[in-house]
Amino acid sequence: MGKKVVVFGSFAMDLTARVPSIPREGETVLGSSFAMGPGGKGSNQAVAAHRAGADVTLITKVGRDAFGEAARAFYKMEGMRMDCVLSGDVGTGCALIAVDERTAQNAIVVVSGACGAITAEDVESCRSAVEGAGVVLTQLETNYDAVCRVIDIASAAGARIVLNPAPAGKLPPEYMKKLDVVTPNETEAELITGLPMRTKQDAPAAARMLLAMGVKAALITLGKNGAYATDGRISRWIEPIAVEAVDTTGAGDAFNGAFAAALAAGMDLFEAARYGNAAGTLCVTKSGTAPAMPYRGQIEDLFHRSR
Ligand code: RIB
Repeated sequence: MGKKVVVFGSFAMDLTARVPSIPREGETVLGSSFAMGPGGKGSNQAVAAHRAGADVTLITKVGRDAFGEAARAFYKMEGMRMDCVLSGDVGTGCALIAVDERTAQNAIVVVSGACGAITAEDVESCRSAVEGAGVVLTQLETNYDAVCRVIDIASAAGARIVLNPAPAGKLPPEYMKKLDVVTPNETEAELITGLPMRTKQDAPAAARMLLAMGVKAALITLGKNGAYATDGRISRWIEPIAVEAVDTTGAGDAFNGAFAAALAAGMDLFEAARYGNAAGTLCVTKSGTAPAMPYRGQIEDLFHRSR
């Protein structure tokens, strides 16, 4: 599928419990099931782009431990390239996830581990992959110096750069100007712009603020309300697709990975956003994160049916 996609970001082993309600401070709840599986926003997005048919290189870091071995085994099973899956002495990251079985919403604690310790020098060891990419996708679940180095290399090489600013955080202003697309959800858009995101009608103002920061296009994901995309000239709502949600964890990752794959394949911002929206929709119908990423045929089927 078109040009190469490089995803720079985290791997985490997801430890997920389904619960009757997300525990409040000081509360213990009894979960109804537990599952362990590959996750981490960067890794999930790379898996999503790969399953969507893109030629993907994931740059990430794991520890020399059982979770790191599980990550490698998963990538091998998926047929993903592993030359930029680095190993180090810091333990592999993990995430503790509670999924509310009534609403399918979640609460997540990430311990970044190896990916928190990934350095700009680690990125340099994968410089040629970044320089050869058509689209570079990154998030904020690794350390910011390394994210900035990826953006510097990608920008100098002329790649299209997509930042999914998750977990919510802010890059230095000069880096916002290097981004082709920023893809926050509501809470991330609120934190970056300082504008309230109470309803979907708040999205256009937040998107305009992101453009004023120097980003070329803004794509704000709105959960069950779809998404809003603008490049400053054309603005469009991406309509939601109704499905029965089982687990919303990783839906944003499915959206971003498939969106990057679609951009690399030559779709414009709005068609790629619709493609990502179809992938995110399919993801919520399955439990788990990386294993819940949909395949190209499934995405294309829903993409065409929802037109
Ligand atoms: O976006 C979902 C992901 O966030 C999970 O896989 C978890 O690892 C956290 O990084």
